[in-house]
Amino acid sequence: MKILITGCNGFVGKHLVEFCLSQQCEVIGIGRGEGSQEPSDIHDKYTYVKGDFSDVEFVKNLLDHFQPDGLIHLAAQSSVKDSWSDISGTVDVNLSKTVSLYEGIRKSTLANKLKVLSVGSSEEYGYIDQGKMPIRESERLLPVSPYGLSKYLVETVNEYYIRQFGLNILHARPFNHIGPGQSLGFVVPDFSAQIVNIELGKQAPVMNVGNLDAKRDFLDVRDIVRSYFLLLQYGTQGEIYNVCSGISISIRSILDTLVSMSNIKITVNVDPKLIRKIDVPDYYGSNEKIQHELSWTPEFHISTSLADSLNYYREI
Ligand code: GDD
Repeated sequence: MKILITGCNGFVGKHLVEFCLSQQCEVIGIGRGEGSQEPSDIHDKYTYVKGDFSDVEFVKNLLDHFQPDGLIHLAAQSSVKDSWSDISGTVDVNLSKTVSLYEGIRKSTLANKLKVLSVGSSEEYGYIDQGKMPIRESERLLPVSPYGLSKYLVETVNEYYIRQFGLNILHARPFNHIGPGQSLGFVVPDFSAQIVNIELGKQAPVMNVGNLDAKRDFLDVRDIVRSYFLLLQYGTQGEIYNVCSGISISIRSILDTLVSMSNIKITVNVDPKLIRKIDVPDYYGSNEKIQHELSWTPEFHISTSLADSLNYYREI
């Protein structure tokens, strides 16, 4: 199988490239930078193409040239936090790049032969009553964050391209990601980097944190990319799939577990700058559909994911 991946140099993208290569696939990654010197970059089944897929001709030519069987669209402004400080930029990037990508697909020789996995977010759901948990794919979408709004609009674009042009698109709604390689700005890296700095004596033993009462449904990025691979093969056109663990845990317990993996003693400082304007208190999804249709179930225990994330920050 030949798979094209947008956003291949990001946190999820790197894991997805590695996973697809481990499954003997041929992978073409598209990114904006020069590409990193990861083992995947020098793998004989991996081709990295630097390019901007807001250029419809670039996409069309790329598809005509490589003739992939499937495409996983990861590239996006993916920070919920940053989306609040640049609402129009987040919506603009996430929407316009998706449209230009689909235009390139539509105009290529592959058109509706190409299977496309669009990656959205649980942020599309917004506030959901506790009585409606775990959230199912059929739940009404009422996004709160600008990031959630952008992905909700991407779904509308998907529906349009399926209806009008017959593109073979399906959509994933992943919940919170964790795992090695995630960048600062997300909660586990923010906590891990501070613990490592405290261990090294570079920071006083005071952890700066945001809202510890929030509860989220965390899934290891390695479980997430495995689900994307299965969705691309076995998912159905026009369908939506939650990708989640099915339970929520508090940010406070994430902090406690990470600290317990170190020998440091800390005090906690709630930094008002880290408190978001609006932060949904608690949500978790139902993974029944993906379990049933793909026989996918999470393999990484949260403690393994947290240990691997912490060790990643110890090693870089
Ligand atoms: N980043 C951060 N840093 N978050 C903190 C901190 C901190 O120091 N302290 C508490 N939090 C709380 C936030 O208020 C939020 O409620 C929660 O931790 C989770 O934050 P993140 O891991 O940063 O994830 P996110 O919810 O912003 O976004 C992630 O999940 C989405 C799906 O729900 C990303 O992976 C998105 O790409 C994804 O779509």
